[in-house]
Amino acid sequence: MKFIIMSISLLFAVSMYADAKRGEAVYKANCAQCHSIHMTGGLGRDFNLVSYTRTKQQIMEYAEDPSSHYREFGYNANAMPTLPLTGDEIEDVADFISSLQPFKKWMAKKKSSK
Ligand code: HEC
Repeated sequence: MKFIIMSISLLFAVSMYADAKRGEAVYKANCAQCHSIHMTGGLGRDFNLVSYTRTKQQIMEYAEDPSSHYREFGYNANAMPTLPLTGDEIEDVADFISSLQPFKKWMAKKKSSK
């Protein structure tokens, strides 16, 4: 039984890692010019902060269509362009952003193993 649970969570971890890896490439090509991941600054917020303060769903919504979400995210104006990304790319980059916080990853695993 323990072995089964361990293999399942390992599989889960591997598949999360794969999405986050693809998402990192999406990030580098489409977001890195405005969003840092090591608090070095930029036009948009650092994704480390974003990963703590936003859900994966919120990140996906914002990446897909910033112009219709900026008010509910607390901004007075929208400077982020709507990027030509596919649904998969948006999900992968949201996984990558969420993966920046080890604590969040640990919580996700706890929830899914119930
Ligand atoms: C041209 C610069 C630029 C690019 C490229 C860009 N962003 Fe942004 N982003 C911004 C700015 C500026 C904001 C602040 C709100 C606004 O102006 O829309 C923002 C806000 C956000 C937010 C909300 C942050 C929060 O917690 O309040 C998310 C999520 C986000 N961006 C994700 C992305 C993702 C994912 C990509 C790449 C696929 C990306 N951005 C590419 C400039 C950019």
